[in-house]
Amino acid sequence: MKVIITEDYLSMSREAAKIVLAVVKKNPRAVLGLATGDSPIGMYEEMIRDHEQNGTSYEFISSVNLDEYVGLPASHVQSYAYFMRKHLFDRVNIDLNNTALPDGVAKDKQAECDRYNALLATKRQSVQVLGIGSNGHIGFNEPGTPFDSVTHVVDLTPNTIKDNSRLFASVDEVPTQAYSMGISNILNAEKIVIVASGEKKAWAVRQMIEGEISPAVPATALRGHKDVTVVIDAAAASLLRRE
Ligand code: GLP
Repeated sequence: MKVIITEDYLSMSREAAKIVLAVVKKNPRAVLGLATGDSPIGMYEEMIRDHEQNGTSYEFISSVNLDEYVGLPASHVQSYAYFMRKHLFDRVNIDLNNTALPDGVAKDKQAECDRYNALLATKRQSVQVLGIGSNGHIGFNEPGTPFDSVTHVVDLTPNTIKDNSRLFASVDEVPTQAYSMGISNILNAEKIVIVASGEKKAWAVRQMIEGEISPAVPATALRGHKDVTVVIDAAAASLLRRE
């Protein structure tokens, strides 16, 4: 793993954007694996700024997102589909037909997982962007998820429901299930960039980089991938033992 420690969230976002933008500029037909959450918002802002200032085009870029809440339609403000439009898709020239997320309101959940896995088989991520949960989850792959997992329906842990409740009116409104790419879908990406910021992520970051490789901390699976860059700010790096 390559680890880049930056001063703050803004410089973390810029470093991560550099990696993704290099992929977009090199291959106008790249497939971007994208993530939601507060962590990548600044990186998306940098990508939008670059699009506006330098004209980097997303006309032929496609994307696959990590996850989506079960039960929320794409029109719901807390859905990840909505998040992606708001923070990236509506602000660059990507064709929405080339973007994909699991469908939160699909009638048959297993059929939806099968559809998404089939799609991922045809859209290998040129780069996969990740955040990390405070318990070390990636996507919504909670502790205990096997490293060979593919897209599946997840029962969210109480910890994740609590973490994510800040965006909902009350904790009772947070969906209890989500679709998530599995860990093997994530590891299939050609390149991975994971961003984390703030003290709240310091434990998970330490486990990911220095802890035992185990499904107990899903992010440790990334140590088995040949091209991972961890971009973290000083607070998220504060528990690392090694320089
Ligand atoms: C959610 C998402 C993850 C994300 C995590 C951290 O659980 N499913 O993909 O990495 O939250 O979110 P944040 O960046 O807001 O801390």
